[in-house]
Amino acid sequence: MKVTVVGAGAVGATCADNIARRELCDELVILDIKEGVAEGKAMDLMQTAQLEGFDTKITGSTNDYSKTAGSTVAVITSGIPRKPGMTREELIGINAGIVKSVTENLLKYSPEVIIVVISNPMDTMTYLALKSSGIPKNRIIGMGGILDSARFRFYLSQAMHCSPNDLQATVVGGHGDTTMIPLTRLATYCGTPVSNYLDEATLAKVAADTMVGGATLTGLLGTSAWYAPGSAGATLVEAIIRDEKKMMPCCVALDGEYGLSDICLGVPVIIGRNGWESIVDYKLNETEMAAMHKSAEAVKSMNSVLATLSI
Ligand code: 2OP
Repeated sequence: MKVTVVGAGAVGATCADNIARRELCDELVILDIKEGVAEGKAMDLMQTAQLEGFDTKITGSTNDYSKTAGSTVAVITSGIPRKPGMTREELIGINAGIVKSVTENLLKYSPEVIIVVISNPMDTMTYLALKSSGIPKNRIIGMGGILDSARFRFYLSQAMHCSPNDLQATVVGGHGDTTMIPLTRLATYCGTPVSNYLDEATLAKVAADTMVGGATLTGLLGTSAWYAPGSAGATLVEAIIRDEKKMMPCCVALDGEYGLSDICLGVPVIIGRNGWESIVDYKLNETEMAAMHKSAEAVKSMNSVLATLSI
């Protein structure tokens, strides 16, 4: 089994590192356009194989997609990351052309590949990959919601002084500072509502912190975060490869679900060997559904920018 990670930047390399440590495939290919970078990261990671005890064979390639042939899953991390003060949406002009050509090149050599999109603005890049490739919708999955939900659990765990592993909490909607929707009403601590333990103001702060979780890190780091995005990408790859049938919030094509269509947006889906296999209806209340539709409007308006780009 082969997995490809396109983009050997911090997110791509961390994702590859996690995929190798979890031994999700025999062969892992890292590809980048910068001469020697993918080869270097692959060699560096291979030198951890004995230390970490994994047997995945990692190779790097400077833009030679023939090396990715026969991939079961490919993760797209290519493009420029955020700088402090920048929104994910501001990256569209540069990243759209990159994501479109990466998708085309991947499909040339792996026509059956399942594509995981991490590049930003993620909802629009997922939509672009779907529309420009024409492949079945179940094979294109945007990762954002898994990352945002991990951040939601982190902030909840800080407020509750508990383990994030004892929390269930999901973020749906877009992967943008103003478009994501942390579902506080549905969040639980070992099966009990978190509202049993946190007052409304604290829950609202947790939700607000979650929404700007990526921006907070960009401010601290001077560039986008990579540990959690890379790990979230690997978690999605793992669920596909191991056919886990786990429920994860991912950005997928909607066709009437949640009253939305012609959009890729974050909803709970079942992930397995066929990509995203079904969409789960969370039975959102009126307020949550209104937030979902507002989020969709913003993502659609971002998607409409694609038509104005010469890509
Ligand atoms: C983040 O939220 C990179 O979009 C990614 O950190």
